Amino acid sequence: MPTPPWPFPRVLAHRGGGTLAPENTIEAIEVGRAHGYRAVEFDATLAADGVAVLLHDDTLDRTTSGQGAVAARMSAELAALDAGAWHSPRFAGARVPRLDAVIRHCRTHGVWMNIELKPAPGAATLTGRVVAECTAHLFADAIVAGGDRAERINPAVPLFSSFERAAVDGARAAAPDIPRGYLLDTVPSNWQEELQALGCVALHTNHLHLTRALAQAIKEAGYWLFCYTVNDPARAEELLGWGVDAFCTDRIDLLFLV
Ligand code: G3P
Ligand code: MG
Repeated sequence: MPTPPWPFPRVLAHRGGGTLAPENTIEAIEVGRAHGYRAVEFDATLAADGVAVLLHDDTLDRTTSGQGAVAARMSAELAALDAGAWHSPRFAGARVPRLDAVIRHCRTHGVWMNIELKPAPGAATLTGRVVAECTAHLFADAIVAGGDRAERINPAVPLFSSFERAAVDGARAAAPDIPRGYLLDTVPSNWQEELQALGCVALHTNHLHLTRALAQAIKEAGYWLFCYTVNDPARAEELLGWGVDAFCTDRIDLLFLV
C-alpha cells in the first residue's frame, strides 16, 4: 500500500516559539500562536519525582534561574524557577511547565504537538513510558487502535520522537497506538532496520546532513521525513522539493505555514 500523505502540519515552531521566546514554555507556544503557528515541537524530560516537564538540557543552568541536574529536582522545585528571564526581561516569570499542562494548553488551542522524549542519562525507558502515559491519558478520546500506523493515524494525536532508542521503545510499550519517529542527527546505513524495529512512521533528521538521494530513499521506503532545524526560507523550499514532509524552525518570523 502506498504511504498516505503526511497528515500533520508541515511547519512546526521549534521548542515552542523558536528563538523569539524562552524555549519550552507556554509563553513560547503563545508567541508561536501569535505568529499563526498551530504546530509545535518541544522537549519532555522527568523531574526527580517522575513528573514530566518541558526542558531541553540535562542541567538547569542555561534556561532557568536554577543550577545543576534537572533529574535531581522535584517538580515543585522546578515549578518555582524562572524559565524566561534568561531570554529577555519581558519573559521574566515564565515557568518550567509540566507536560500535562502543556498538552492541555495545546489541545485547548488546537496546536498539534511533536513531543520529543529527552531523557536524562539512564532514564530513557522511564521517560518514554511516563511521557507516553501522560499523553495517552490526555488523548484517550482521540487515540484509535493501531493509530501508530500511517494509514490509521488520527492527525490530532501527537507524534513522539527521540534520539534514544530506549525512549521510543518505552513510549511504544506504554502507548502503542501513539505514532513514533526516530531522531537521527546523521542517518546511519541501517536506518531502515532501526525504523522497522522501533515501529516508527517517520525519520527525523538534521537537514544539514541530508542529501536529495537519501531523502528520496527514505520516502521510497515508505517513511515520512521530518527535518530540524530549518531557518532559511530558500532551504525550506529546497527540502520540501526533495520530498521532506515537515520541519521545525527557530525563525517563526521568517517561515510560514504551507
Ligand atoms: O526534534 C528536533 C530537534 O528538536 C532536535 O534537536 O536539540 O533542539 O532537541 P534539539
Ligand atoms: Mg527538540
